[in-house]
Amino acid sequence: MDHALEATVVGSFTDLGVAARRRLPGWEEPRDGALTGKVAVVTGATSGIGQALARQLVELGATVHLVGRDAKKLDSTVAALRNGRPARSVAGHRADLARLADVRRLAATVHHAERPIDVLAHVAGALVHERQHTTDGIELTAQVHVVAPFLLTTLVLDSLAVDARVITMTSGGMYTQRLDVNALFDPPEPFNGTVAYAQAKRAQVELNGEWARRYPDRRIGFHVVHPGWADTPGVQTALPGFARVMGSRLRTADEGADTAAWLAWSEAVTPPGGELWHDRRRRRTVVLPWTATDDADRNRLWNEVADRAGT
Ligand SMILES: NC(=O)c1ccc[n+]([C@@H]2O[C@H](COP(=O)([O-])OP(=O)(O)OC[C@H]3O[C@@H](n4cnc5c(N)ncnc54)[C@H](OP(=O)(O)O)[C@@H]3O)[C@@H](O)[C@H]2O)c1
Repeated sequence: MDHALEATVVGSFTDLGVAARRRLPGWEEPRDGALTGKVAVVTGATSGIGQALARQLVELGATVHLVGRDAKKLDSTVAALRNGRPARSVAGHRADLARLADVRRLAATVHHAERPIDVLAHVAGALVHERQHTTDGIELTAQVHVVAPFLLTTLVLDSLAVDARVITMTSGGMYTQRLDVNALFDPPEPFNGTVAYAQAKRAQVELNGEWARRYPDRRIGFHVVHPGWADTPGVQTALPGFARVMGSRLRTADEGADTAAWLAWSEAVTPPGGELWHDRRRRRTVVLPWTATDDADRNRLWNEVADRAGT
């Protein structure tokens, strides 16, 4: 049944997919307090899927560090998530991933505040329709989805716990793209934000596999998730036509966050990972044969991202 759903794409990515899979054997609920004593860092925590994920982790007992670029949204999210819990259980950190200096500051702050870190969730993302360059001189989509998360993971690597989980939120849109490192950093004219976004999401998947391959013995799990299609401020703003057509078939943000939360608490996932997940199951990273990545391109991606991250 799961495979049949997957083949339909729409059935798999919408709320129908998660509703059906929830009924399959093996779909378990977390035990109360499953993440008590654990520490999580979540980017993109001021909206949509990242905010839902942060809330789910807090509700499972984790101490959660929320990362956001907007001070007001960060403060209100922290206040909402604390909701009577001790102040130290939910902390906010301001960082704009379009500024690598912010990422370095964030890593240093988190490193001093909490060690070890059990969950690092890279959820921040945005689909923009105009070419923009960051103050670091990198195309915005590539920086926010690829370079900044790579830098953050690198800088906190030594602060990660045994059996830590590094979770990255990709998109099913990546299935349409073959990795093209040139196009990732210098999207062709005319700029197509959807393609640039899908290219960055493909790069996230390839880098996730590369992290697992390069750090097999550190007992860290690297996992990449595609959330399906969820009704979030990001989708409403970037793809209003799509949001209108899909209407009530879009998932909730909580449903979009479910697999990332499951990867944080499940005892069934083991390091080093390197795989793509959707609705709590491993998924293929390639559907269209021409989108497969070879080792040379994957290596080049790693080197060029590391170069831009300054690591
Ligand atoms: N919703 C879907 O159907 C869907 C499908 C596939 C993949 N995804 C992925 O899921 C993730 C969350 O998306 P969403 O739909 O929940 O979108 P969203 O509601 O727009 O949330 C995105 C979050 O990323 C943050 N962010 C964006 N640019 C940032 C930057 N430069 N620095 C720091 N934070 C930044 C946003 O901050 P602000 O709150 O300040 O805007 C927001 O908190 C993204 O990676 C997205 O690509 C979503």
